[in-house]
Amino acid sequence: LGAIEVDVAAVEPGMSLTVKWRGKPVFIRNRTEKEVEEAKAVAIADLKDPVARNANGDATAEATDLARSAGEGKENWLVMIGVCTHLGCVPLGQAGDFGGWFCPCHGSHYDTAGRIRKGPAPQNLPVPTFAFVSDSVIKIG
Ligand code: FES
Repeated sequence: LGAIEVDVAAVEPGMSLTVKWRGKPVFIRNRTEKEVEEAKAVAIADLKDPVARNANGDATAEATDLARSAGEGKENWLVMIGVCTHLGCVPLGQAGDFGGWFCPCHGSHYDTAGRIRKGPAPQNLPVPTFAFVSDSVIKIG
């Protein structure tokens, strides 16, 4: 219960959609190739939180770009709960020092894979349970 389906057919590369799920914002982003490449280029050792935090994968998986994304063939898609892991503000998209998300409350910078890179937030933005139920529809929950 509590699952929602979101049509993302109109979300072109470089565009995002925010939907509400269980009272929280969920960011759905169709990342550009550049954003994916930037995220892939980051060494796990350079991450503040090296864990993927993806409910669809292994709880101990490393926070590679692929492990954060919607997976093989859908790596451009990033689906995350849009709540800062510091004290719960909603981060702003395409902002901050790493071109991902920026939380203005206390200055947390997330990269283009939603991984915390700078500031007080302790963890990457969590990826909720979700799946593509068709080429253009994502089921969250
Ligand atoms: Fe986001 Fe504090 S709530 S940095």
